[in-house]
Amino acid sequence: MSANVRPQSMERITTEKLANAFIEEQVAELRKQIGNKKVLLALSGGVDSSVVAALLIKAVGKQLVCVHVNHGLLRKGEPEQVIEVFRNQMNANLIYVDAVDRFLDKLAGVSDPEQKRKIIGAEFIRVFEEEARKLENIEFLAQGTIYPDIIESAGVKAHHNVGGLPEDLKFQLVEPVKLLFKDEVRVVGKALGLPDNMVYRQPFPGPGLGVRCTGAITRDRLEAVRESDAILREEFAKNGLAGKVWQYFTIVPDYKSTGVIDGKRSWDWPVVIRAVNTTDAMTATVENIPFELLQHITDRIIHEVKGVNRVLYDISPKPIATIEWE
Ligand code: XMP
Repeated sequence: MSANVRPQSMERITTEKLANAFIEEQVAELRKQIGNKKVLLALSGGVDSSVVAALLIKAVGKQLVCVHVNHGLLRKGEPEQVIEVFRNQMNANLIYVDAVDRFLDKLAGVSDPEQKRKIIGAEFIRVFEEEARKLENIEFLAQGTIYPDIIESAGVKAHHNVGGLPEDLKFQLVEPVKLLFKDEVRVVGKALGLPDNMVYRQPFPGPGLGVRCTGAITRDRLEAVRESDAILREEFAKNGLAGKVWQYFTIVPDYKSTGVIDGKRSWDWPVVIRAVNTTDAMTATVENIPFELLQHITDRIIHEVKGVNRVLYDISPKPIATIEWE
């Protein structure tokens, strides 16, 4: 698949049968392109990179080297799932890089949102580059580029990309899903046997929980974001909202207010819930979460998440608000 334009004749992949035909064709093409060389892939655990990994594992097995960088801003359970699915179940060649301290140390005291994004993006490239330099005989770099990334030049991924690998580390690109739309990538992922919670995952920004821990990131507040997000996801899954609402998450602003615990005043953070629906992320409306469920989620968050004494529900549409808080 070398051209960047989707042929008019290309059928939309909507069924397992069509996905299997696509997989078969891609596997043959990837084997031809890669031969007995090695391929490198930054595997975040998101839908696109996971599907690319699964395709390449099927095509060239251990010639694929996946690098999963844990920058400390991933959701609860994500690095563990990447290891479980790709290393343990698919027997992939997976390098897990624990870069948590490195990222959080670099981000300490940085409150400007754009600066935070730049640091996360640049540090990611640096960590990936270091890992790439340790490896020998890599000729290809696989990427989870999908069709909207190509046609929307101002698309989310293109817009947020920070730099790239240095000149001496230029590899030939392998982009097996670059002509597919997101829904097709999901159908292919399912046919490749990836778990549902990976295939139907809601969108997650590259800088991860970093943009939801507003202002300067601290480890304790980041933990409050991660834990409250996990509770929200668990409750959405239990109550049938997980596949229905486009994006839902929590934010912990860098702001405290008073509360009362055991007759004593506390001074803690609020958790903000965001749950929106959209088709293209350019505009968004707010999900009407049933009030009883909101109360139950609130109850769990204020009792289970350390350092939190309030829960707020952000009911602002985009525009004027954006989906994320930073
Ligand atoms: P906003 O906040 O601009 O978000 O309404 C629109 C969509 O884009 C995602 N988003 C990002 N994705 N890197 C990404 O890969 C980023 O820096 C970033 N910022 C926002 C956001 O989650 C939403 O789906």
